[in-house]
Parts: sequence; C-alpha cells; structure tokens
Amino acid sequence: MILVTGACGHIGSRVTQLLADKEVAFRAMTRTPDKLTENLGFEAVYGDFEDPNSLNKAFNGIKTALIISGKAMPGKRCFTHKIAFDAAKRAGVEHIVYLSLLGSSADSVYPYCRDHYESEKFLAETGIPFTSLRNAFYLDMFLEKFGADGIIRGPALTGKGAFVTREDAAQAAAAAVLNPPVGVVEITGPEELSIKDIAERLAKLTGRKLEYNSETIDVARARIQGALNDEWKRELEIGWFDAIAQGEQLPVNDNYKRLTGMDPYTIEQYFDVFPDLLDVLRTKRAA
Ligand SMILES: NC(=O)c1ccc[n+]([C@@H]2O[C@H](COP(=O)([O-])OP(=O)(O)OC[C@H]3O[C@@H](n4cnc5c(N)ncnc54)[C@H](OP(=O)(O)O)[C@@H]3O)[C@@H](O)[C@H]2O)c1
Repeated sequence: MILVTGACGHIGSRVTQLLADKEVAFRAMTRTPDKLTENLGFEAVYGDFEDPNSLNKAFNGIKTALIISGKAMPGKRCFTHKIAFDAAKRAGVEHIVYLSLLGSSADSVYPYCRDHYESEKFLAETGIPFTSLRNAFYLDMFLEKFGADGIIRGPALTGKGAFVTREDAAQAAAAAVLNPPVGVVEITGPEELSIKDIAERLAKLTGRKLEYNSETIDVARARIQGALNDEWKRELEIGWFDAIAQGEQLPVNDNYKRLTGMDPYTIEQYFDVFPDLLDVLRTKRAA
C-alpha cells in the first residue's frame, strides 16, 4: 500500500489524481479530510506531522510513503518531518519518497534549502531506503511574485535557474512512488532561465507588459519590511531570490525524463496546456 501525504495541497492532490487514474491502491493523508469528498476511488485519512498519534493510523500497513514537505518556520519544519519519518519507521515502511528542494545544503542562502538538508539527514538516520526528490523552484511561483504593476522585484541579479513546473513535480513524485529510485534525485525543467527571460516570455503569452527589476539585498529588505511582519518570512523572500543569484537552482538535468519517460514542459507548452494559471497575471493590476 502507498501513502501520499499533503493530499489537499497542489502537488499532493495532483499525485492522488495521477495514482487514481492508474487505478493504484493508495491512502491519502491530509489535515482536512472533509475537503476530499465522495467517490474518491481511494482511502482518505486525517494526519498532521505535528500530531504523532494521527500518523500511527496513517502509516499503518504502508510499504511506500510519499512524504510531501509541509509548511512551518525553517529550522522548525525539519523536526515536523522527523516526526513523520519516525512514524514511518515504527510502521515498518519500506521506502520513503521525500519532497525536497534543489540546492539543499547546510550553507544554502535559502532558509528552506538548509531546512530540507536537515530533513534529509533525519530521513537518512531512519535507515529506511529513501528517494529525496529535490525539485527546482516551481515555475508557478513566479506568477505570484509579480506586483500589480507587472514588475517582479528581488535580489536575483542576472542569475538563472532550472525551474520546473508544479505539474512536472507532481508527475515525478507519482512516478517515483510507483518505482522508487534510491537516493537524491534532482528534478529540473528543460531550460536555464533568468527572471528577465521568464518575464519576457510571460509578457508574450499574456500580452501584458511584465518586467524584472533586480535590486540589492538591502533595498529588497527595506521594501518588504512593512509588507511581511515576521523576520523569518522576510529572510525566506530574500533568500529565494538570492539562491537564484548564487546559481543554487542550476544546472538542468535529464532526471525528469529518466523517471517519467516524458520531457518536462517549457513555459509555452505549460501555459498552453494549463492556460488558467495565467489568470493571476491578467487580473492582478494596479488600480
Ligand atoms: N520547489 C518549490 O519552488 C516549492 C514551492 C513551494 C513549495 N514547495 C514545497 O513543496 C511542498 C509541496 O508543494 P505544494 O505546491 O503542493 O504546496 P502546498 O499547496 O502549500 O501544499 C503543501 C501541503 O503540505 C501539507 N502540510 C502542511 N503542513 C503539514 C503538517 N503539519 N502535517 C502534514 N501535512 C502538512 C498540507 O497538506 P494538507 O492540506 O492536505 O494537510 C499542504 O496542503 C510544499 O509544502 C513545500 O515544502 C516547493
């Protein structure tokens, strides 16, 4: 039996669809099972990494678990993942697929990459064979980062990244859980793109003027000071752009194709298949 956690999130819900389409038997874990309504074609169970008792039930009888990283403060989040890994060990899980991040290392400039590195250490300490899928930053993240004026600002300089679509990250996770490779697998998109490249290509697709304005880290910090109250959230925002500046989101590789047998989407292919994703850029405009 397979377990998929985070079943109501973007990646988790897509993985459950993909597995259900293949008529694979699996259990979906979520903090909000009420959101998963009738005729699912799979079993749904409540589970929260911060509630170990809930995990005993969720992991019971599971052979392979896809553990989708959760949302919490970097430095604390890895301990919530440890709770899940330990529950998997208690339940006798034979393989864990963990959703990690490209650039995971102890000295990354991006706090979540450092946190994923700690999570991966906890995962290895369980002794359970594992796959750590280190996804590049999702291409989808850029859609949310444009301001209402059509400008994306941040300290990425002219750095490039091998950004991957959420759809491809979900396809990779579904493939990995069915036939898990062992160890760290970095998942990237097909191209190395700067934020300027992305703004230009999204501008063509939407017919809207979209631009990238690079700024220094100090200017970025001052700009977001009022917008984000928590310092750790400000450091996440700065670190995200800085990781691109530092080349932490490179290089492109062909692991996605090896895993899924498919090519990852280019920007144009992706928004051709999922055009509604661009609505946020069409509607978010300065008054
Ligand atoms: N590579 C990137 O650029 C990138 C970007 C964003 C996120 N991520 C990482 O990839 C993960 C999946 O991405 P996504 O787009 O699917 O994010 P998402 O839509 O925010 O989904 C994350 C899911 O994690 C689950 N979760 C959160 N806290 C949890 C907890 N305490 N216990 C158990 N589950 C918990 C939740 O599932 P339920 O609601 O079903 O409980 C949540 O919906 C994220 O959580 C994040 O770690 C990577």
